[in-house]
Amino acid sequence: MIEHAPNLAAVSGPSALDVSVVVPTFNEALNIAALAEEICRALESASLRGEVIVVDDDSPDGTGRIAEELGRRLPVRCMVRRGRRGLSSAVLEGFAASRARVCVVMDADGSHPVETLADLVRPVLEGTADITVGSRYVAGGGSEKWPLLRRVISRGAGLLALGVARLSDPTSGFMAVRRDLLEGLPLDPVGWKIVLEIVVKAHAARVREVPIVFRDRRAGESKLSAKAQLQYLQHLWRLYAFRFAGLFRFARFCLVGLVGMVLDMATVAALKETLGLDTRLCAVAGFAIAVSSNYLLNRAWTFRDRSVRGIASYPAFVLVSLAGLSVRIGVMHLFIVTTALDQGRGYLLVNFFGIVAGTLVNFAGSSLWVFPRRS
Ligand code: GDD
Ligand code: MN
Repeated sequence: MIEHAPNLAAVSGPSALDVSVVVPTFNEALNIAALAEEICRALESASLRGEVIVVDDDSPDGTGRIAEELGRRLPVRCMVRRGRRGLSSAVLEGFAASRARVCVVMDADGSHPVETLADLVRPVLEGTADITVGSRYVAGGGSEKWPLLRRVISRGAGLLALGVARLSDPTSGFMAVRRDLLEGLPLDPVGWKIVLEIVVKAHAARVREVPIVFRDRRAGESKLSAKAQLQYLQHLWRLYAFRFAGLFRFARFCLVGLVGMVLDMATVAALKETLGLDTRLCAVAGFAIAVSSNYLLNRAWTFRDRSVRGIASYPAFVLVSLAGLSVRIGVMHLFIVTTALDQGRGYLLVNFFGIVAGTLVNFAGSSLWVFPRRS
């Protein structure tokens, strides 16, 4: 359930406000009033028309009530979520409640410098960037006297994300973003790193880093648990899977193919050992078993997000597999007649090249024809 304070900042049109500063809170009764006042003052002195949206998860210390009170004299709105917890989902609900041109997310504990707020908002408002991210690790940025271990963890966490986002400080948690950019994004409210989530999902966006000096929290306790740090790894995994979806899919496809090969071998061996059939006949049965298992696994796993044309996709997959086999043999033939590779143990390499070519054909056929993209 979400409750809105009745007195919203006088919003007249859809873009009447320049900026909504979303502040997620859980037990920040000691910090929220001072922060909200500072934000409002900073916006005013930068001539920005803005509001603060506090998204409180029904804090037992009464943060929500304090924020509602603030709304009587300041452009502060308070949304209270009951029975739910989660930093990222709170931030996204705050963004969804905004009608301003730019959304900012900012911690309630004073860690993110209010003095930098306008520097973060300006480029987005003026259209020279789609997203700005506060960074401790660019010239002019930094953090207060942190113990070595915390610095190492923070740096390490940032480095792990380099493969999905070119950010020097993806975990700072302080960002501004053009609101209409958010609307089309498939955002997952997992974990704590909503900044990283948005930057990765909006990978065509123009991102600029703004130096910040990260301060220690003023009062109260951090809510970042060990569990949240583990969730970060899980979140990263998902972001890599999103960013490199094709590569991940191909890896799944190859794994399925490997399982198929083992089943193929096992079938041949079983038939040979028990019935003593002709090896070529055994191979046909092995192929049939492998193709069927490949079909089922690819359908259920590799291409689980794709459309399936019912049972008709099975003969299609068999056809593609046969085409792959032909290409494999063809490629091997080419190597054998044009090179001297097929001598000694070289046949292994020839076979390997054949498998690679066949797999590529199988993958292309499966991806484009058997399990096509949903239209
Ligand atoms: N609504 C809501 N729900 N807010 C939450 C929740 C929640 O479940 N958990 C935390 N918050 C709020 C806090 O009240 C605070 O305003 C902000 O989210 C950040 O939480 P902190 O407890 O201050 O976390 P931190 O200081 O350990 O982490 C901050 O710094 C990290 C960099 O060192 C965050 O900004 C992280 O995103 C950042 O990585
Ligand atoms: Mn903090």
